[in-house]
Amino acid sequence: AQLAILAQLSGKKYFGTATDNSELTNTSYVAQLGNTLDFHQLTPANSMKWDATEPSRGTFTFNGGDAIVQQAESRGQLVRGHNCVWHNQLPDWVTAGNFDNATLLSIVQNHCGTLVGHYKGKIYIVLADSVLLCVVSWDVVNECLNDDGTFRQSVFFNTTGLAYIKTALRTARAADPKAKLYINDFNIEGSGAKSTALMNLVKELKSEGVPIDGIGVQSHLIVGEVPTTMRQNLQDFADLGVEVAITELDIRMNLPETPELLAQQEKDYQTVISACKAVRGCIGVTLWDWTDKFSWVPGTFAGQGAACPWDENFKRKPAYLGIVKGFLSL
Ligand code: G3I
Repeated sequence: AQLAILAQLSGKKYFGTATDNSELTNTSYVAQLGNTLDFHQLTPANSMKWDATEPSRGTFTFNGGDAIVQQAESRGQLVRGHNCVWHNQLPDWVTAGNFDNATLLSIVQNHCGTLVGHYKGKIYIVLADSVLLCVVSWDVVNECLNDDGTFRQSVFFNTTGLAYIKTALRTARAADPKAKLYINDFNIEGSGAKSTALMNLVKELKSEGVPIDGIGVQSHLIVGEVPTTMRQNLQDFADLGVEVAITELDIRMNLPETPELLAQQEKDYQTVISACKAVRGCIGVTLWDWTDKFSWVPGTFAGQGAACPWDENFKRKPAYLGIVKGFLSL
């Protein structure tokens, strides 16, 4: 049994992985990336972000994102767009621009509209014999909350308050009415102040008629520390009437790997997958890359890593079996 097949047998739309352009030169990597028994869906880890797509004001470059979309299209895989508005990986002209409210909102509008519009209809699903043209989903707003549930200070929030969130979502809807529009964040796997704040935000947006279709639960987790409330929390999100997706799953450990840590990691992957499986509204799972060779973790957390289900030599780890068991709910 393989992951994408098991995900679909569990009623999920897809199982997928993040990837990055520099990784596409590795032929063994690309062979597994295109293995549709494991992966139905790709997310570009960097190349659709603002610094990559609008490096100077009004000048758009889509080469990197296009290459990932082409890779996905060649295998009939879905693509999640990532992302429209985020405080990170912004070009200097946005952060240093010192724009007033109206100007910054028009910049957000132009960025989101052009980005989402560029990929409209470019990403397809093969269903039986027919081909449906649609973007599966966009992380329109990324990481807008602090862990204590307050809104994150950013150039966008400081200048516009919540208006940038509403503008981004409305603009994305107009640019591609078929795409599912998400707010995506980390540390919202279990219940707590941040998850509550996100639910309140979604309720507010819905009450104002602002389009919001999904909550992306990133799930950058730590071995042995999967929140015990994860299943219930995913259900609480889904009960708001939105889709839920696990968008950036990896489970890191303190290096070196030991058999004990790898066994706990297997259990942790199983716990996350069975939580998504148990919640009908949890529609898919994306790994934040499938191999330790290209994981972002060691570059950010010194002494930590081995977060993915495949090792640096592209060999399956016990975590792979954990995902299988999660979908089978063994
Ligand atoms: O492209 C440059 C390259 O020219 C340069 O030589 C190299 C030297 O450091 O840096 C390259 O840029 C790096 C970029 O990834 C592409 O590899 C940046 O330094 C590095 O900071 C950047 O990291 C990305 C990170 O977001 C930035 O915040 C990771 O690859 C990416 O996986 C990560 O993804 C985020 C999600 O978007 C949002 N959620 C959290 C997740 C993990 O941080």
